[in-house]
Amino acid sequence: MREASRLRLVVGVSGGIAAYKAVGAIRAFVMDGHDVQVVATQAAYEFVGKSTLEAISHNPVFDSLYDDVSQVRHVALGQNADAIVIAPATAHTLAGIVAGLAPDLLGNAVLARRGPLVVAPAMHTEMWQNAATVHNVAVLRERGVVVVDPASGPLTGNDSGVGRMAEVHSIVSATYAAVGRSARDLAGVRILITGGGTREALDPVRFIGNSSSGRQAVALAEAARVRGASVHFVAGHMDVEPPSGIDITRAGTAELMRSAVLERLDDTDVLIMAAAVADYRPAQMSSTKLKKNSLGSNPTIELVENPDILAEAARHPRCLVIGFAAETAVNDAELLSLARHKASSKGAAAIVANRVNSGRGIGTDDNDVIVVSGDGRELGRSSGEKLSVAQSILDVVLHLRG
Ligand SMILES: Cc1cc2nc3c(=O)[nH]c(=O)nc-3n(C[C@H](O)[C@H](O)[C@H](O)COP(=O)(O)O)c2cc1C
Repeated sequence: MREASRLRLVVGVSGGIAAYKAVGAIRAFVMDGHDVQVVATQAAYEFVGKSTLEAISHNPVFDSLYDDVSQVRHVALGQNADAIVIAPATAHTLAGIVAGLAPDLLGNAVLARRGPLVVAPAMHTEMWQNAATVHNVAVLRERGVVVVDPASGPLTGNDSGVGRMAEVHSIVSATYAAVGRSARDLAGVRILITGGGTREALDPVRFIGNSSSGRQAVALAEAARVRGASVHFVAGHMDVEPPSGIDITRAGTAELMRSAVLERLDDTDVLIMAAAVADYRPAQMSSTKLKKNSLGSNPTIELVENPDILAEAARHPRCLVIGFAAETAVNDAELLSLARHKASSKGAAAIVANRVNSGRGIGTDDNDVIVVSGDGRELGRSSGEKLSVAQSILDVVLHLRG
């Protein structure tokens, strides 16, 4: 299992003499137990070899925008990184970031990032003090980018002055401080998240299912991991890939999901049941494919009730259990009342209710939720992209844990 303190870092190496010193920073991050993905610009290879970067980082180095396009790496790298650190950052790379340019993989990762960006500029004094660079560095600071100032000392030629890349330990500690600033407030908390929908088989090829995509659950898992939680994900059937770098158990039916959840509860501090679990399943599954005319002219399917995983899990003496309720309410008042009813009937610490007839919620990228406590108090509302809704739900988790 990933440790809560293990960070996913993208280290960008751009094309300056100090690129050889990037090796020291990468090594320091790896020695501290972090997962380091190096992204090199083409110019970086004029100064440091790909093999060195790969051996030191224990990962292949990425440098091409158009390799493995199916991985959508140009976006995924930035999205999944707890922080991006560019060391050294050339004058050219700094200018590109300020302008929002994305000519290469590093530029794309920077634009798509969700976590902090740390840059360690390195260049000759004249370049560092040039009005364009001074302006660019000021803009970056204004935007919240952490700039690890270069030091003074001998430069590449016979000259000396300000412009040497900061020492490795300064870059490393600035990175840790930047990540801490993005609130690792769930460090050490063990969170179990279910996501996607279950499918209850009628025969070997047909099933009763639902259109849950798993997106909200994946957003919760990603946000919880970045905030330091140790996350285990129980995946039903999903339209999206489960989050990478997180322990995953596949559970495609309600009964499999029940076992996957209940057997982990003793090792779980918080359970968030975002999966859409079928309430009923066919009483019998045919072992052969049902033929069109074999069921008569007016066929019916006999259903039996599935286990109520949420209610069962909510009886656990120590685990904080949060359920989801997808409701076709006409307005917020009705949604609130349905959520209160579900919260009290299940015994969960909180219910996250979303309207599924508003064009949001199931299968979409955004969501609109009301969170209600087990005793019916409204704990919060959130709407927007699922990642931002996930952060609000995790804020409620923190609040409930006191
Ligand atoms: C020998 C040599 C050393 C260089 N050192 C630096 C440097 O320390 N800092 C810098 O900003 N640019 C330096 N450059 C210029 C960059 O390599 C150049 O601007 C390049 O376009 C940067 O590309 P990148 O930012 O995509 O990596 C150097 C160029 C040469 C030829």
